[in-house]
Amino acid sequence: MSVSQAHGGKLVHRFDASIKIDPALKEVKLDRLELSDLELLANGGYSPLVGFMCKADYDSVVKKMRLANGLPWSIPITLSIDHKQAPDLKIGEKIKLTHNGTVYGLMNIEDIYIPDKKLEAEMVYRTTDLAHPGVNKLFERKAVYLGGPITMMKLPEKDFAEYHLTPQQTREIFTKLGWQTVVGFQTRNPVHRAHEYIQKSALELVDGLFLNPLVGETKADDIPSHIRMKSYQVLLENYYPKNRVFLSVFPAAMRYAGPREAIFHALVRKNYGCTHFIVGRDHAGVGNYYGTYDAQKIFSSFQEGELGIQPLFFEHSFYCHKCGNMASEKTCPHDSEYHVILSGTKVRSMLKNGEQPPKEFSRPEVVQVLIEGMQEVYIKNLRV
Ligand code: ADX
Repeated sequence: MSVSQAHGGKLVHRFDASIKIDPALKEVKLDRLELSDLELLANGGYSPLVGFMCKADYDSVVKKMRLANGLPWSIPITLSIDHKQAPDLKIGEKIKLTHNGTVYGLMNIEDIYIPDKKLEAEMVYRTTDLAHPGVNKLFERKAVYLGGPITMMKLPEKDFAEYHLTPQQTREIFTKLGWQTVVGFQTRNPVHRAHEYIQKSALELVDGLFLNPLVGETKADDIPSHIRMKSYQVLLENYYPKNRVFLSVFPAAMRYAGPREAIFHALVRKNYGCTHFIVGRDHAGVGNYYGTYDAQKIFSSFQEGELGIQPLFFEHSFYCHKCGNMASEKTCPHDSEYHVILSGTKVRSMLKNGEQPPKEFSRPEVVQVLIEGMQEVYIKNLRV
């Protein structure tokens, strides 16, 4: 086996910087989530999708976790417009896609439809509760969806530009490194000891680890990506073998759709060239909306081999003082009083107050970067 085949068989490429825009085209404004989706449609991260979903794919994804042609796909990729703009647009028309006044792409309108957002929320997020950040975002978006193929001609400005690679580029790198098996790791957090433990356990089984942090839109209290990026760099420098790990970013927005998002995260990492994908405790979850292992159980909705990427499941991991190492319920017989477990909220408030989470929870080099970064953010917010 070499790096995996793209989902649907062929890596999509719909980026062309040479395209000139006709200024007379009508404009559809993208929000940040849609702009990041445009980039992933253009760079092949969302292969086999070539554009925002038309109604047939949308309905099928919402109800069956499959595209209309039967291929597994778990999250709707949609473009929304205001209902007042809808009568101005026609099927067959070409439009320009903009964000903050800059044109990033073109789309041929193939479909204009009104989604059933309540059903979308129930099926994709398993809740219609507006306190859920993904559901809230869904209902905040506009009322009418446009479907059709896109072309992108300009990329958004990037921090950490050298870590923004396309699936084509990561595939070439994995091949050059001689990795036949690659495990993908999704994260929206700093890498703490539990993350490190499951990554390294997986790395005992495969050739390489693809650390692929999500850097698109996240909820306001998640640690900003520019701080996280520095923390990944110091961690890799100090604790990982250089020739066994590769870091580049995933530009998508977080949906917090738990199980559905775990499938989506796996399929997209397959497009980046991964053969395996880590799913731990409450993957892509938020609050108490999903069971601890729901994001693992959902993989059994698909036949063996249908997804084309092997999930690797891990139990909730922690440091055990009695064992003197990282462990999980699978490997540790001791009481929870010996286990170091901190919630995300607790860790964020410690960092903001300049307090060090224990070294059993997070590497000291990582903690240092996070404290400095979070205090900067905190001081900046005080000034605003
Ligand atoms: S996520 O929203 O990107 O899933 P996070 O960055 O916390 O959140 O998790 C990244 C991956 O590590 C996910 O697969 C998650 O299930 C897993 N994970 C996080 N913490 C633990 C833990 N303590 N034990 C086992 N798996 C974990």
